[in-house]
Amino acid sequence: MKKIPFWETDVGNKDYEYQKKIFSLNYPNEGEYVKKLEDKVKKILQVKFCTALPSGTSAMFVALKILNLKSDDEVIVPNITFAATANAVSMASAKVVLVDVNTETLNIDINDLKKKINKKTKVIMPVHISGRSCDMTNIIKIAKKKKIKVIEDAAEAFLSKNKKKYLGTIGDMGCFSLSPNKIFTSGQGGLLVTNNKKYFDKIKVFKTQGRVGITSGGDDLHISKGGNFKLSNISAGLALSQLSYIYKRKKKLIQNYKIYKKNLNFKQFKILKFDVNNKELPLWTDVVCDRRNKLYNYLKKNNIICRKFWFPLSKRNFYSNQKHSSFKNTKKIENKIMWLPSSFLMKKKDQLTVIRKIKNFYQVS
Ligand SMILES: Cc1ncc(COP(=O)(O)O)c(C=O)c1O
Repeated sequence: MKKIPFWETDVGNKDYEYQKKIFSLNYPNEGEYVKKLEDKVKKILQVKFCTALPSGTSAMFVALKILNLKSDDEVIVPNITFAATANAVSMASAKVVLVDVNTETLNIDINDLKKKINKKTKVIMPVHISGRSCDMTNIIKIAKKKKIKVIEDAAEAFLSKNKKKYLGTIGDMGCFSLSPNKIFTSGQGGLLVTNNKKYFDKIKVFKTQGRVGITSGGDDLHISKGGNFKLSNISAGLALSQLSYIYKRKKKLIQNYKIYKKNLNFKQFKILKFDVNNKELPLWTDVVCDRRNKLYNYLKKNNIICRKFWFPLSKRNFYSNQKHSSFKNTKKIENKIMWLPSSFLMKKKDQLTVIRKIKNFYQVS
């Protein structure tokens, strides 16, 4: 039986054709194709400013860095997220404070968030897991009241909406990943968006070694410290040609989720809800299930490849000194959460095989 993967990238001849234009320019550095990508993303997400960077992690790092955080400033990160969110905070030399997650959404838990905020809290980083929106209304309300910044980790949420607004455009800044298991990819890459001109100006300077304007590499004016966080024209070109497929992919991802949701609904196995009517986009379908590891292995033996969730950050003491046992919701679900095969290339008959095998495992009809 053919493998049914968790995800498949679709980079091919059409992208290659587009690349030919870029190679003919003989300008692989950051240039006009990066600008084209940034302009296109601004239009799609209806946001004022966009900067392309080498990864989602670097987008978060740069967003944090331009806030000039001090070593005892605290940044709130949900306990269940990819390590990148916490790593970005550590690289920006601030302190990671972990907050428990909601068991229904896997996103940051508002009650625990309120408890963890204190005078040192400078930033909240909500993570829209699998494209599912965090409770942005409450997060923004809390942040405004306490004068805390919000940087959305929207790595998995490009094109997903919270009612009228695109995720990543609601807080002070938003960060996206263009790695290969996203709705569109540049190989590796990231996007940082904001509606705040002051932030955008700082991002532009920081991402090019603290320089202003067009740079020559020689006698440029450095007005601050910085780094090299540029994306190449080649990567931007791949992202641009990939962007032309996102609406077709979006349709298929929603269809994948709806088919799973309709067919897999029983006590031991719960598909987590997406508010698709309010324009949430399920990038990956995630589940909370009993005997997860056994199910994972059983499916793998049948050539069906799922993806287990990340270990909670509280299990690694280099992220935080908060006790793992204090995260009650995390503890309830940490060994039960998994992503189902979610590719936009998945055939309907393969998806029905996944559903049948899961039902076989739990012996439900
Ligand atoms: C939730 C989350 N945050 C951050 C990242 C980091 O993005 P990148 O791999 O582009 O650095 C990812 C990557 O997939 C992610 O899933």
